[in-house]
Amino acid sequence: MTQDMIETARQVLRNNDRGFYTVPTKGLYPFQWNWDSALSALGFAHFDEPRAWTEIDTLFAHQWDDGMVPHIIFHQRDEGYYPGPDVWDTGREVPTSGITQPPVAGFAVRRIFDRAQDKTLAAERARALLPRIHAWHQWFFRCRDPQHSGLVAIIHPWESGRDNSVDWDDAFQRVPTDGVLPFNRRDTSHADPAHRPTDEQYKRYIWLVQRFRGLGWDNAALHDASPFQVVDPGFNAILIRSCADLAALAEELGEPRIAAESRAMAERGIAAMETLWSAARGQYLCLDRSIGRLIDSPSVGGLLAAFAPLPPGRVAALARRIGSLAEHCRYLVPSHDPTTPEFDSLRYWRGPVWLVVNYMIADGLEQAGQVELAGRIKADSLRLIRQSGFAEYYDPNTAEPCGGGQFTWTAAMVIEMLETHAGAGDAPA
Ligand code: GLC
Repeated sequence: MTQDMIETARQVLRNNDRGFYTVPTKGLYPFQWNWDSALSALGFAHFDEPRAWTEIDTLFAHQWDDGMVPHIIFHQRDEGYYPGPDVWDTGREVPTSGITQPPVAGFAVRRIFDRAQDKTLAAERARALLPRIHAWHQWFFRCRDPQHSGLVAIIHPWESGRDNSVDWDDAFQRVPTDGVLPFNRRDTSHADPAHRPTDEQYKRYIWLVQRFRGLGWDNAALHDASPFQVVDPGFNAILIRSCADLAALAEELGEPRIAAESRAMAERGIAAMETLWSAARGQYLCLDRSIGRLIDSPSVGGLLAAFAPLPPGRVAALARRIGSLAEHCRYLVPSHDPTTPEFDSLRYWRGPVWLVVNYMIADGLEQAGQVELAGRIKADSLRLIRQSGFAEYYDPNTAEPCGGGQFTWTAAMVIEMLETHAGAGDAPA
């Protein structure tokens, strides 16, 4: 049974493999996505280590000179996706988008390295990636934390990876829609519109792209010029974890400068995370940086914070909070609190369960010794797969599969969950 599921998951990865990168799923997402690739590499690593390294190498082959790693790389033309390369107009030889995504590559590379069977290959590939990943992390603190708060802001909801989360609703009102050129969405021809962001949200997404394009994609200017600047605890937790993991990896590979700088970024971030803690909600919240106020939206972004090496008391509090959500849905972890009026069990990041998020939360909980809850989250994830296949996301009550099917990172997480036993080979950072 388990072996069948692993084999089916591998088949999903193989079907979406384009040789040197993997598409998230056919049709809906026909290019390379940043954090999809890093997480999918974890799945490949269990049965094809060279292929896993190639996935991440390809991502970093398209890093910008300033250190940013773009959220989409348009390796080939495909009219099935909007907004395509002409809308972004970033002027790159192989076109890319102009914004980034959660920097999970540092974590992924350390994990693949630690488990590698082929240590020579792993050392060679990890050593080559180390300075590139480090440059990306430094880019974040330089360009997305100009006031040196220790935490970085996203300037477009798509950067968070949680595109239409309730978290962005209020701040998004400050993004205008005038001057948005007419466009045709393509996503709603591949997936049920009831599972996707609304047209109104789409106009604002595109307004921001047009604004940044008008500034020539100059990252020295974009943060301050954006009407949308949000500090997302989940995003920052991923960055902090990757910095901590890169520090450990750099130490092992004999790169003390990268190790020290990475450790310093992680430590400052961990201390600054306290500013996002909400005692009332028992979880972290986003900060609307433009107005200097926390956003009182109990989403999974604040729970994903558990992925960072935070003080154990905070992770224990997050575990209690996640445990309380289990009383209101059948499958953990919903992307939004099911007791709130904004919760929408089918609509993308406003309620459904995502396996990548489950994996990262469970991993953070395990590192902090919360193994029981981590086990429950993984068991729920596998129940969803058994019931509904390798979907993009799932209704947390009915397990209905939503969005696209045959999804790469969902399959990769299944391989990870089934092939890995708690704690095996993974020393905490
Ligand atoms: C959606 C998700 C994002 C993901 C992308 C490709 O935009 O919100 O997190 O990276 O699809 O799977």
